[in-house]
Parts: sequence; structure tokens; C-alpha cells
Amino acid sequence: MCGIVGYIGTQAASEILLAGLEKLEYRGYDSAGLATISEGEITCIRAKGKLHSLREKLAEIDSLAPIGIGHTRWATHGKPEEYNAHPHMDNSGRIAVVQNGIVENYRELRKELKAKGHKFVSDTDTEVIPHLIAEFLKEARRENEEGKDKKTDKVADLSFLETVLKAVNKLEGAFAIAVICADFPEEIIVARQQAPLVIGFGAGEFFCASDTPALVSHTRTVLSLENGELARLTPMGVEVYSFAGERLKKSPRILGWSPVLVEKQGFKHFMHKEIYEQPAVVRACLEAYLDSDWQPGNPRSPINLNLPKELCADVEQISILACGTSWHASLIGKYLLEQLANIPTAVQYASEYRYAPPPLTANTLTIGVTQSGETADTLAALGMEQQRRAGFTDKFRARMLGITNRTESSIAHMMPQVINTHAGIEVGVAATKTFVTQLMAFYFLALDLAHQRQTISTDRLAEIIAGLRQLPAEIEKFLEIQEQYVEELSHQFTDTQDFIFLGRGINFPIALEGALKLKEISYIHAEGYPAGEMKHGPIALLDAKVPVVAIAMPGSVYEKVLSNAQEAKARDARLIGVTPKQGVAEADIFDHILPVPLVDELLSPIVTVIPLQLLAYHIAARRGLDVDQPRNLAKSVTVE
Ligand code: F6R
Repeated sequence: MCGIVGYIGTQAASEILLAGLEKLEYRGYDSAGLATISEGEITCIRAKGKLHSLREKLAEIDSLAPIGIGHTRWATHGKPEEYNAHPHMDNSGRIAVVQNGIVENYRELRKELKAKGHKFVSDTDTEVIPHLIAEFLKEARRENEEGKDKKTDKVADLSFLETVLKAVNKLEGAFAIAVICADFPEEIIVARQQAPLVIGFGAGEFFCASDTPALVSHTRTVLSLENGELARLTPMGVEVYSFAGERLKKSPRILGWSPVLVEKQGFKHFMHKEIYEQPAVVRACLEAYLDSDWQPGNPRSPINLNLPKELCADVEQISILACGTSWHASLIGKYLLEQLANIPTAVQYASEYRYAPPPLTANTLTIGVTQSGETADTLAALGMEQQRRAGFTDKFRARMLGITNRTESSIAHMMPQVINTHAGIEVGVAATKTFVTQLMAFYFLALDLAHQRQTISTDRLAEIIAGLRQLPAEIEKFLEIQEQYVEELSHQFTDTQDFIFLGRGINFPIALEGALKLKEISYIHAEGYPAGEMKHGPIALLDAKVPVVAIAMPGSVYEKVLSNAQEAKARDARLIGVTPKQGVAEADIFDHILPVPLVDELLSPIVTVIPLQLLAYHIAARRGLDVDQPRNLAKSVTVE
């Protein structure tokens, strides 16, 4: 969470930094600030609330300063108040720092610094950093003075980079920082440890940011810092160093995607636009991984994920690590891998796995799933898994796979193999198109493994492939015909306080996802349950005020879900069915129907999730809430 930006060049920094922060606001939006240097002084402006509050304050200042850093915050330590907003400064007001992440040892550093006379004015962990740098700068100045050349009376030049490096080496935790100092008006120092930081290369100007959307309108030439690296940005260029102080040779790369993707393109909210992008991203996945010449009966696999054969050869188990919506996608992945490829699969919350990992088993493939590619819990769990495998065979160490849409993110750097889900960048905090394409990745993986292991008949394989090919058109049709109805229905629930979502089998994770979408953007309490579990407790919650959404797709558990829905109806609950209308005699049990296309049960999560995304979206929009930036959340959760 939190977004940081930096600029050094010849243009006025403030406007560039603000525009960059706008693109990063999805990372946190409870306060924001900028610090720039001009005429040997730092000007630091901060504001509580969203970026427009900062913009209003900056409108009163006409700054041409060509260097600066900026921050948009998601509060970790200290309330979202202006005094806790970044940049943070030392007591002299000559050093300013922005940070994304957490300095875990900030309490002891603060104590040491206080004992040396430093005064703190915020509740944040970040504030120790400018003070620490100030302390090392003072020390370096003293040493230089003491060691001055007696004959010439010359004091050696101070190195800002070395000073920041000393401070960084005292920090524990996961962080990315950008630092400026009024005594070094032509330098920004940035450092990365377990939190993303990208440097952008322009002509005579350089940028840094937590994520590439902040850079793409200026440059596509970027360099992602690795953990344990810091860099010095000056108007002349960029130098990269390790935390041990060694100069590193690194080459920038060219980003492949277009800035137009991060515009709303006529939609009121990014979430709405991203729901509508789902047919296109599912199509992109099919084009990327499905052999268009493959015909039923063809002995070769219809799927090419470009993964080495050894990755999955004789794999006996799969372990999937993820959080939130990606965890829900992984539950569907487990269903597919077990039911199609016959491979026992465990899905774990990455945040739990780290502290209670199961015993290591040699033939396990570990998969990390993340839309941002930066979730701290997921990266840490995968990192721990990599370490646990360190002393074992190359084959075992290589058995790790990432599933993400952000191919330039940390998970992509970390994992030996990655499936790109082709969702592109997602801006709305609530995951929609990234979820659907994570499912696509799991369909392809499970079907490919099932083909390799001969656990699927040729006819069934052909049937599923044909069904997959139909999905983009089915979603398009649904959006075109049904959205207005979903919108009208959603208006009946704007004052509802609790919702229950029920699903079974492959649609149980969709019940979880439907509930999560609703609670995160509409702030309505919602729970997802396996429909059969309702009678074991949650049924006590039901009455006429609690609507129940039941996902009932014809197939193995259809009758069972309908019975569970009847149990809810008998308790006066208002029943909403996510079910196809065609040929469903039982549909009359529902008070309302969100009619989905009749597709193969195995593929149904791709169509059942869409009305639930729309329901959540329209309820939240009707309640007048900030759909794209719901309170307390952030798109990229880079703290543990
Ligand atoms: C919900 C949502 C979150 C994320 C979770 C993990 O809509 O987006 O629950 O799924 O924070 O994020 P990633 O997938 O980036 O690891």
C-alpha cells in the first residue's frame, strides 16, 4: 500500500508528481503530500483525504522546483491525519522522505534518536528515516571536518548516497523509499526492500514510482529495483548500488502496454469498465493459450502455457498460496486440478501459511496467485517456500509458478515460471477481470495436466474446450441483455444490512466472492457459505430482512442447492437465484432471478460471478459510495 513518486529534471516537479500520484491513488488514498526543493529549501505540502485536497492546497503555490517526491497514503502506523501524511522531515527541515511499507524496528530507532535530541511530530514508523539520515549526515560532516587536509584546509565531499545507505542498513522490514535533501538539490535517492520501486528514464529527466502507471505518460523505459538495491537519480542519469555499497550494472527495459488502458473511457467507474472488459480479456487468454487449430481427436494438448515439461512432471501435490479474491480463484483452481487432473491440491491463505507451513514434500508444485503481483503476504510466503527448498534438487526448487496479470511485478521476478493471465492492469480496487482471468489460467493448467496424465476423456476435453471458446460471446450477451435488470434489482437493496450468498461445489467460491465484492464496495455485511452448511448455524441469521443469493447451476449439486434455497425461503428470506432461466422449472422458487447463460457446470463460475459483480457495483453506486476506492482498502497490499 501507499504510492510513492519522484521526479528530477527540468520541468516543474509538482504537476508531474501530482499526475503520478493520481495513477497510484488506488494504492492508498487517506492523505497525500509532496516535497520539492527550490532555492536551497524544501517546501513540503500535505493534506488529509484524497488527492484533490492536496491539489487544492498546491493551487495556491506557484512552484517551478525541478525536483520532488510525493506520496499517497494507506495508513499503517498512525491515523489518517495531516500530521501523519508523508513526506516526513527531520528537525532541520532539510531532509524529506516518502515511504511505502513498514519499518519494523522503528520503536527502538525512535528511542535511540530521541535520546540524541531528535523530536518527533507524527505517529508513523517512517519519521525515523529522515532523522536517521540527519544523524548520519551530521556524523559524516564531523568526520570529514576532523579528517580535513591539514595543508589545504579542504574537507572531503559528502556523499548523500552513502549517508542514506547507512540509514537504510539500519532499517528492518519491507519498504521502498525516496529521499531528497536541500543540501543535495540535484539528487533523489531511492531504495527498495520487499516493496516495489520502478525508475523511469526520460530525456534529461528521471522518475521513480511504486508502479508503472505513474510513469507511462512520460516514458516506457523503466528499471525495476530489486530487493536490497538503492539508486541515485540526478539530472545526468541513474546509478544503482547494492545495500553493500557496490555499484551495479543494470539495463532498463521497455514497457509493452499502453497508457490508454488506465483511462475510464466513458465509464463512470473503473470497476464498471473492468466488468465490461471481461469478454475481451477472456478472449485474450483463449488466444494466448488455446491452439486454434486443435480439433477433437487430436492427440496433442489443445493448450500451450509455455511452461517447461519438468515443472509438473510427476507432481504429486499442488499447494496454492494467495489472499482475498485471488484466494477465491485458487479454490476454484483446486476444484479443477483435483477433479480434472486428479492431483491433490491445498489452498492456503498466504498470511497463515508463513507461520504454519505444512511439512515439505518433494513432489509438490507451489503456485502463487496475485493480481497486483505485489501482495506482501503472498510474496513472503513464496519467499519462505523458496528458502525451504534451497538445499534440495534443482528440479524441486524449480517447481514454483506464479499466476498474475502484472508481468513486470515482484512475483514475476521471483518465480521461475509465470502464467500471464492477460487481464492487463486493473485499477478498481475490487478485483473483477483479474479474477475471471485467474480462473482461465486454472482451466488451462488443469486441462493441460489432465491431458498429460490422461485423466480426462477426449470427448470431455473437446466439450470443455468448445465451452471455453463460447465464453466471451456468452458474457457479452449477458452484459448487453441483463445489466439493466441487475441495476434495477440492485436498487431494491440499497438499504439492506445483511446478505447471505450460497453456493456448492465449484460455485461455493463464487458465493464467497459475491459476498466479498458486496462488502468491500457497498459496506453491507455479507457472508458466503457452502449452501449445505447453512443449516449448521448461519440459518439462525435468516429472516425477511436478510436476502439470500443462491447460485444454482444445473449439474451435480443443482437439486441440493435448490433444497438449501427452499430452507432459506421457509425462514422468510427473500431469495435471489443466480441461475439460467431456460428449461428451469424450479426457477419459480426464487423471488428474483439473475439469469445467467446455461453453460457447462464446470465452466459456470465464469458466468455466475458476473451478475454478482454487477449487483455489488450497482448497490454501491446507488448508495453514492466511492466504488473504485472503497474506504480502508488499497489495490496493492504491500504490508503484512
Ligand atoms: C478484492 C481484492 C482483494 C485482493 C487481495 C489479494 O476485490 O481485490 O481481496 O484479491 O488483496 O490481492 P492480490 O491478488 O493482488 O494478491
